[in-house]
Amino acid sequence: MHKRRARGVAGLALSPRVLQFIAMAFSSIRLLVGTMTGNAQVVAEEIQFVLDKAGLGASVLPMDDASLDDIADGALIVICTSTYGSGDVPDNARAVYTLLTETRPDLSHVRFALFGLGDSTYPQTYNFGGKKFEAVMLELGAKPVLASHFHNASGGTLPEEECLPWADELAQSILALA
Ligand SMILES: Cc1cc2nc3c(=O)[nH]c(=O)nc-3n(C[C@H](O)[C@H](O)[C@H](O)COP(=O)(O)O)c2cc1C
Repeated sequence: MHKRRARGVAGLALSPRVLQFIAMAFSSIRLLVGTMTGNAQVVAEEIQFVLDKAGLGASVLPMDDASLDDIADGALIVICTSTYGSGDVPDNARAVYTLLTETRPDLSHVRFALFGLGDSTYPQTYNFGGKKFEAVMLELGAKPVLASHFHNASGGTLPEEECLPWADELAQSILALA
């Protein structure tokens, strides 16, 4: 019987060995969403779709449903968050952000990526929500799998479109770890 292989990015066939490595290396890929009006949620769902097409299963979790364990349990974390107020993380991300900054868990075993959403009409605090999460993850020892990307709502592109090439790069970066 002919064995079927999962199709990866750019039509790459993923061997069962590579898929097994990915499954072992990360208990899962988890997209954590900080949002006020839903843009970051849509972005996370698009990234999930791209990862899924690459043979990489991922779950989407609003930050108000997330615990520290959901960050520290060995999953590969993809943070999608906007910025509100005067450079604050969104309301639904505040509890998790405070837990990270106050309890300061060791995240040196964690890999992460970050997609921020902001608006350059707030020049003093442009994308501070994402930048705050990026800073605390790095301080706690988490390792980025690729450079963070920051969407500008005044830049003329939709975040759910701008995230697609970044999500492709993310998939390739994860597969390159194998
Ligand atoms: C009241 C309000 C305050 C905002 N404050 C900031 C800010 O300080 N810095 C920034 O870069 N963007 C700011 N934004 C822009 C949002 O982050 C941006 O529109 C984003 O796409 C919203 O995504 P969301 O729907 O996932 O929350 C603000 C938007 C609103 C409506």
